[in-house]
Parts: sequence; structure tokens; C-alpha cells
Amino acid sequence: MAQFGYLEKFGIVFLIALLYYVVKSVVNVLYTYIIGPLVNKVDFKSQGRWALVTGSTDGIGKAYARELASRGCDIVLVSRSYDKLMETAAEIEKDFKVETRIVLADFSDADIYEMISKEVADLEIGTLVNNVGVSYKYPEYFLEIADWEKNINTMIKANVVSVTRMTRIVMPGMVERGKGVVINIGSGSSIIPSPLLTVYASTKAYVEKFSEGLEMEYSKRGIIVQCVLPGFVCSNMSGIRRSTLIAPTAKAFVKSAISLVGTTSNTTGYFPHTLFFYVVNSIHSFAPRFSVWLVTRSMENTRRKALKKYKKE
Ligand SMILES: NC(=O)c1ccc[n+]([C@@H]2O[C@H](COP(=O)([O-])OP(=O)(O)OC[C@H]3O[C@@H](n4cnc5c(N)ncnc54)[C@H](OP(=O)(O)O)[C@@H]3O)[C@@H](O)[C@H]2O)c1
Repeated sequence: MAQFGYLEKFGIVFLIALLYYVVKSVVNVLYTYIIGPLVNKVDFKSQGRWALVTGSTDGIGKAYARELASRGCDIVLVSRSYDKLMETAAEIEKDFKVETRIVLADFSDADIYEMISKEVADLEIGTLVNNVGVSYKYPEYFLEIADWEKNINTMIKANVVSVTRMTRIVMPGMVERGKGVVINIGSGSSIIPSPLLTVYASTKAYVEKFSEGLEMEYSKRGIIVQCVLPGFVCSNMSGIRRSTLIAPTAKAFVKSAISLVGTTSNTTGYFPHTLFFYVVNSIHSFAPRFSVWLVTRSMENTRRKALKKYKKE
């Protein structure tokens, strides 16, 4: 190194650090998405005969219910529409030859938990998917949210209270048996700038923190806890109908996310979403004002279009 000047030495150290960062990131991605899922395969059925999924009659929840049924679990479907529950249960029984049980519950009501607890008291639930969640009808400024009190209460009850209370109902059995899987569906909106989705993103930040603590407390008791933070997925909530690389079908999304159970406890669940959030957060750390301007502009556009549509209707 003696023949190099200070600037050249600095350049060499910088290149070594950059190379280390790139290699570490590539190894991390390879382990998370390829090697991990091959070596850490979780046999869900061996965790307990039943899997319970909240918000399971559509979108991501229904895809989890079907995926777990395809892996041999009997399924408890908890959702708010009786007809959709019956239809989903019949579909799953026919397609996967497993048993199902339905529990009719509206998670915007905080008084449902004693009833749910009784309905599932006799079941050995090895997998719990806390999927139910509600968002804004369209992006909106905090003070302008329509029907403010009702919508905010619903969001907090469905997104925060449900995850906490369902875990309290199901996890004691898991701890007793020394095994089980808890999957909590958060949202990427809690890890990127999310103006005009402030309350929704905040409820999902709770889901992430709750999962982190739960994992620290109960992994040593044999419980696997995973928090999934998706980007856009085709569903009623996102309003996206046609799948693309960045907005996969719920089925494709769940196939990917579920393969990461046992490998990673905090994940977007889907590699293109990881890349997307990485790019957004990199822009945000280089030019925070620009990124906030860009996201706000895009949210305001969506809001404008939605308001126009609602006015027409
Ligand atoms: N889709 C995305 O782009 C996206 C992105 C990030 C995170 N997420 C999260 O992923 C989860 C699932 O979202 P999704 O897009 O699959 O939603 P979705 O297609 O709207 O499906 C939601 C499911 O939950 C049920 N549900 C809604 N409100 C309920 C309530 N109050 N009580 C009981 N059940 C209720 C629905 O039943 P009904 O059919 O009867 O309404 C349906 O089965 C949510 O936690 C969401 O925050 C979604």
C-alpha cells in the first residue's frame, strides 16, 4: 500500500467495503429465497391438525387457507360473510379433501372473541394466520377521512385488536404442545413513506412490532412467528385485478411467502416487493423531500380519481 496516495487508499478501502456489501446482500437474498426454503421446509400439518385463517373468504387470506389445505391441514375459516364462508369451505373440502369449520365473525366488533374462543376450543390449531385487515377506501388526509370515527375504529379493531386477541386465543395450545406457527400479515406501507394512509400504515407498524416481540418471547418455546409485509397484491382491497411482476395474484404471493416460514421472521414475502421497497427507501434516504413529494403526488392522484368515481356513483 506504500506506493498509494491517501486518495487511492481511500478508494481501495471503499471498493472493498462495497464488494463486501454486495456479496453479503447477494448471499442474504440467495439464502432467504432459495437455500432457506429448501432446507427449512415447515411441515404445517405436523404443527397441529388445524390451521385457522382470519379474513379467509377472499384475497390473501383465502389463498393461505387453500395453500395450507393443500399441505394437508384442516381449516378454520373466520370471516364476516356467511355465504362466502360456506362457499369457500365447500371449495376447500372438495379440492383438498380436508375438513373445514367456519366461524362467522365481524372483526370490527370487539365483542366476538369469547364466541370465537368457544368455537375453536376443541381444536388442535397448529397454524394461525392473522390475515384480516381493512384499509382506507382511497388514500386520504387524516382529518378528511369520511365517517372518521367509524372507519378509524374499524381499522384499529380489525388490524390491531384482532391480531392480539386471536393470538391470545390460539397460542396457549401451541405453547403447551411446544410447536406452532403464527403468521401475521402486516403491510409494506409501514416500512416506506405512506402519506394519506397514515392510520392504516400505523396499525400495520403495530403488527410488525408485535410479531417481533412475540418471536423473541416464544421462539424458545418452539413457536415460529413470521410477519409478512406485502407490497401490492391483486385483491379487492388493492383494487388491482390484473397481475404483474410487482402485483402478483394472491395465490402466487402466498406460495412465495409461505415458503419463507422457518427461514425469515420478517419479510415482504415476495422478492420483487423486497426490491421495490429497497428502491423506495434508498431514494428516501438520499432525497427524503423528493420521495415524500413523489409519493404524496401519486397518492393525491389516486385520491382524486377515487373521489371522482364516488361522486359519479
Ligand atoms: N392486497 C394488498 O395489496 C395488500 C398489501 C399489503 C397488505 N395487505 C394486507 O393483507 C391482508 C389481506 O388483504 P387482502 O388484500 O387479501 O384483502 P381482501 O381481498 O379485501 O380480503 C379481506 C378478507 O377479510 C375479510 N374481512 C374484511 N373485513 C372483515 C371484518 N371486519 N370482519 C371479518 N372479516 C373481514 C373479507 O371478507 P368479505 O369478503 O366478507 O369482505 C375477506 O375475506 C390485510 O391484512 C391487508 O392489510 C394487502
